[in-house]
Amino acid sequence: MKESLVVMSDGTELRVYTLRNADGLEARIANYGGILVSLKVPDRDGKFSDIVLGFDKLEEYLKEHPCFGATIGRYANRIAAGDVCLDGVAYQLTRNNEGNHLHGGLMGFDKVVWTAKERQSADGPALDLRYVSRDGEEGYPGTLTAEVTYTLTNDNGLKIEYTAATDKTTIINLTHHSYFNLRDAGAGDILAHELTIDADYFLPVDLSSIPTGEVRAVKGTPFDFTKLTPIGARIAQEDLQLVYGNGYNHNWVLNSARRTLAPVAVVHESSSGRMMEAFTTAPGLQFFSGNFPGGRFGGKLGKPYPSRSGLCLEAQHYPDSPHHAEFPSTILRPGEIYSQTTIYRFR
Ligand code: BGC
Repeated sequence: MKESLVVMSDGTELRVYTLRNADGLEARIANYGGILVSLKVPDRDGKFSDIVLGFDKLEEYLKEHPCFGATIGRYANRIAAGDVCLDGVAYQLTRNNEGNHLHGGLMGFDKVVWTAKERQSADGPALDLRYVSRDGEEGYPGTLTAEVTYTLTNDNGLKIEYTAATDKTTIINLTHHSYFNLRDAGAGDILAHELTIDADYFLPVDLSSIPTGEVRAVKGTPFDFTKLTPIGARIAQEDLQLVYGNGYNHNWVLNSARRTLAPVAVVHESSSGRMMEAFTTAPGLQFFSGNFPGGRFGGKLGKPYPSRSGLCLEAQHYPDSPHHAEFPSTILRPGEIYSQTTIYRFR
């Protein structure tokens, strides 16, 4: 991305900030949507490539796209019919996805401008983002102050730390929505990428991708990624859940759901030798295999993205938690601090 400043008609400045660590890894992040617009990491020969899908120009992120690189909130993923009842009060959230609420609504955290401050931390260069969401925004109760810090760590991790506080009881579930292609963004599909997810269970969904409530064992299904397996190995199998998701678009119940930072997934791409490890404090991981029709979105350097050309590993709470008392709670009350940390580390 050449230009790193866009001035909107109302004077709002959209900017891109660059973090670079001692090993030369580089992350570029926009104050618009807290979007990671590029991430350059070396292959086994030390050659750097940008490994996240997106656009060349900052303005292009203002048009419709599937949340490339974005910070998602207030509630990542779906809430059936967008209805939430908190302390006996009913709230209607925006229904922006087949009658359901998805990724915070029409103007989610991926489409707002955050205040941004660069900083050098002991861990590496960092960018602090802050956004105050007004009471009632997209239907959510409470004024919510959200802070997200991106740090490009000395040990080659992109660390994302989230905190939030509210003045009324509300719900929250923040995540990061990069589409990774460890070969190079735009270098074909990700079906040969190998993946492990440390999860013995996943959440089956209905036709509109709402969890049914069943917590199903992955063993013996195409959802078993407990051992390193190519993403494409079973994606075309006859399996109702793969039909509903048009591929993988499900939440895995992480074995580590202890709320301490734990390794939860590994992605390996053999032609480049790149390896990414994901760590999180979140209880769930949405693995989305980027199941869009080829050429619909993209892309950098004028390359249209084929279907399944990027994979998302969105560390988060389970979808539709407000309707499932048995799922870990996503309720945030005044005086409490929500926090979540996710790291994507490269080797
Ligand atoms: C969802 C997909 C959706 C995509 C883009 C993913 O997190 O699971 O269903 O199409 O985001 O919004």
